[in-house]
Amino acid sequence: MSQTKQPITTTINQIHQHIDQFVRLQGWIYSKRSSGKIQFLQLRDGSGVIQCVVVKSEVPLEVFSTSEDVAQESAVIVDGIVRKDSRSSLGYEINVQDLIHVSNAPDYPVTHKEHGIDFLLDHRHLWIRTPRQRAILKVRAEVLRAMSNYLDQNGFTRVDPPILTPTAAEGTTELFHIQYFDEEAYLTQSGQMYMEAAAMAMGKVYSMGPTFRAERSKTRRHLIEFWMIEPEMAYFTHEDNLNLQESFLSAVVQQVLEHCEVELTLLGRDLDRLRAVQPPFPRMSYDEAVLWLQKQGRDIQWGEDFGAPDETELANQFDRPVFIQRYPTKVKAFYMQPDPERPEVALCADLLAPEGYGEIVGGSERIHDYTLMQERFSDYNLPNEAYAWYLDLRKYGSVPHSGFGIGLERTVAWICGLEHVREAAAFPRLLYRLYP
Ligand code: 4AD
Ligand code: MG
Repeated sequence: MSQTKQPITTTINQIHQHIDQFVRLQGWIYSKRSSGKIQFLQLRDGSGVIQCVVVKSEVPLEVFSTSEDVAQESAVIVDGIVRKDSRSSLGYEINVQDLIHVSNAPDYPVTHKEHGIDFLLDHRHLWIRTPRQRAILKVRAEVLRAMSNYLDQNGFTRVDPPILTPTAAEGTTELFHIQYFDEEAYLTQSGQMYMEAAAMAMGKVYSMGPTFRAERSKTRRHLIEFWMIEPEMAYFTHEDNLNLQESFLSAVVQQVLEHCEVELTLLGRDLDRLRAVQPPFPRMSYDEAVLWLQKQGRDIQWGEDFGAPDETELANQFDRPVFIQRYPTKVKAFYMQPDPERPEVALCADLLAPEGYGEIVGGSERIHDYTLMQERFSDYNLPNEAYAWYLDLRKYGSVPHSGFGIGLERTVAWICGLEHVREAAAFPRLLYRLYP
């Protein structure tokens, strides 16, 4: 192969199409080692990592000395021949002919030794360059794609609710206040109320976007800013809602398995646990859950909400997500439809992920009766004027309807098998962390 020939510019994930061809890769040095006469450069380009071999006796002197100079995260362009290599995990390596040093990265802070979590979070803008973090972000992107695929193919229309809102959607204690000229406004906690309006306009709708909770919770499940996907369906009962959720989530997990096996394997995920995520999901009533927890010796009384350890224990009985349904009306949001036969419980469900990941979905049938909704407004001290538009939905052609919200980062953390939701966001916003 002559070096005067033009290389084909490609990416590492396409390298299998170029066996024995002269290619160009553009990326960064992930790591390197040397045996004196040979430099082994691990090149990453965002699509993967490949070993690039520079043999002193086969390249011009300056190419070899460049290969000696480059260090972790130096930006480089590599021209070379693609060789099949059964010893490498990728199956290919590059026999380097030319190496262009685009820029260097002196004293790169995120080295290959162990770093503490605070250090890594302070350097999140660099930490995301590592194969593990890249794999997580890939899975996250695939989860979003799978979610919109499913919904788009099942008659839903995407509608984007506002981020700046005049009212609370999920309780007033966790609101971020901001000044909206002469008015007070809040960052949205949930797009649900707007999606209810949209469902009356379009039938089946969904949103996906950021939501905010000024929650002083420092747990492995809580972010201050997280993404929620919120489907809302006119004429859907509580049962319809649960059936949709299990079909939706199973389809999402199976699509991610199909497209991200490499990433999930790199993350050390047990793929069989994900393959088991198929409908139907087990369903337990809140009543049954309380009795079962009491039998396990847990200190819980009917009427109380579950804590994280309760949820973990409940979910551990099953190999797939479990619905806990019909919670006491008192512990849930004001808009939930009470069970007509038993108004002390609501037609709602939380979906608990297996393996200790806790609640990933919250959903319910919504109150559609004008008078009942008005009563709730006075019970919860909600200002009628600010919510007038929401009451209008009960005044003009109101119908039973249901919806749910699924937390993206919790779902990604579960699918990837992560310790903490913070790794499921590119730049997580945590209690006491706004940087970078
Ligand atoms: O249960 P939540 O609060 O429900 C709602 O906001 C409804 N309005 C949704 C709807 O019916 N349209 O939140 C829904 C999901 C939770 O199950 C969880 O996955 C996620 O959002 N979530 C969080 N994720 C990360 N950090 C937090 N602080 C979260 N709070 C909720
Ligand atoms: Mg909830």
